[in-house]
Amino acid sequence: MSKLVIKDLYASVEGKQILKGINLEINDNEIVALLGPNGHGKSTLLNVIMGHPRYVVDSGSIYLDGKNILEMATDERARAGLFLAMQSPSEVPGVSNSDFLRSAVNARLEKPVSTYKFYKALDSATKQLKMPFDLATRSLNEGFSGGEKKRNEMLQLILLEPKIAMLDEIDSGLDVDAINIVSEVINSEKEKGRGFLIISHYARLYDLINPTRAVVMINGRIVIDSDPSVIKRIDKEGYEFIKTELGIEIAKEEPNMNQTSIGSCDVKVKTE
Ligand SMILES: Nc1ncnc2c1ncn2[C@@H]1O[C@H](COP(=O)(O)OP(=O)(O)OP(=O)(O)O)[C@@H](O)[C@H]1O
Ligand SMILES: [Mg+2]
Repeated sequence: MSKLVIKDLYASVEGKQILKGINLEINDNEIVALLGPNGHGKSTLLNVIMGHPRYVVDSGSIYLDGKNILEMATDERARAGLFLAMQSPSEVPGVSNSDFLRSAVNARLEKPVSTYKFYKALDSATKQLKMPFDLATRSLNEGFSGGEKKRNEMLQLILLEPKIAMLDEIDSGLDVDAINIVSEVINSEKEKGRGFLIISHYARLYDLINPTRAVVMINGRIVIDSDPSVIKRIDKEGYEFIKTELGIEIAKEEPNMNQTSIGSCDVKVKTE
C-alpha cells in the first residue's frame, strides 16, 4: 500500500507564489486526473513534488508512505518511488539513453542489475511501446521527435517501477496509435499496483484509462475533487461553470510586458 499525501501546500517560482494551499491524496492502484486551465499551476505542482530546485516550498507538507519527502533531494524522492514524466523532456547530447536508464535503474537497487537482465527488460519495454530499439541506444532525447520523447518517458516509467507516477501531458504530440499504446501501458502499470497523477487537457486519453478520480486546479488551488464525470463536462463546456456554479473567478494569464517591438530595433533615422 502506497500513499502520497499533500497538505496545505504553498509554493513559489521566481518569487511568484503559484500554489496556494493544495490538499491532495493519491493512493496506489488509482489514477487521478488533474485538469485546469493553462498557467494555473499543474506542472508546478508536479515539479514541486519531484523537488525541482527552481521551485520553493513556502509552507505545507508532502508525505510518501509516512516519509517527509520535502526533506529529500530529487534523486532520493525517485528512489523512494516517485516518478515524473515531464511536459517537455530535455535533450542530453552525449549521454546514451540506455546508460542513463541503466544508471537510474541501478540507483534504486542494492546490487547493480546484470547486463543481460537489463537488456532483456529494455527489449521487452521497447517492444511494449512499439519503439525502434535504436532509440534506446541513441543520446538521451537528442533529435527525438515529440512523440518519441513522450514514449521514452514511458520507457523510463516501465523500467523504474515507481510507486506513484506523475505524467505531465504525456498525450500531447502523440498520434492516435501512440495514444493507444501509451494508454495500454498506463493501464497495465496500474494493474501492477502503481498510483498515477495524470495531467491532460483532453478527454480522449482519459477515456482510454478510466481515471478513478478527477481533480481541477484553478488559481493554484484544487477546487474540485470528484468522480471522473467532471472530465466530460469540462470537455464539452470548458471551465466557465466553475465561475457560475462555484463562484470562483478564473485568473487569466498576464500579458507578457517584456516583448520587444520589432519596429523599435530596426528603425533607421533618416538624416539629411
Ligand atoms: N521557471 C519559471 N519562471 C517564472 N514563472 C514560472 C516558471 N515556471 C512556472 N511559472 C509560472 O507559473 C504559472 C503556472 O505555470 P504551470 O506551468 O504550473 O501551469 P500549468 O497549469 O501546467 O499550465 P499548462 O496547462 O499551460 O501546462 C505560470 O504563470 C507560469 O508562467
Ligand atoms: Mg503544464
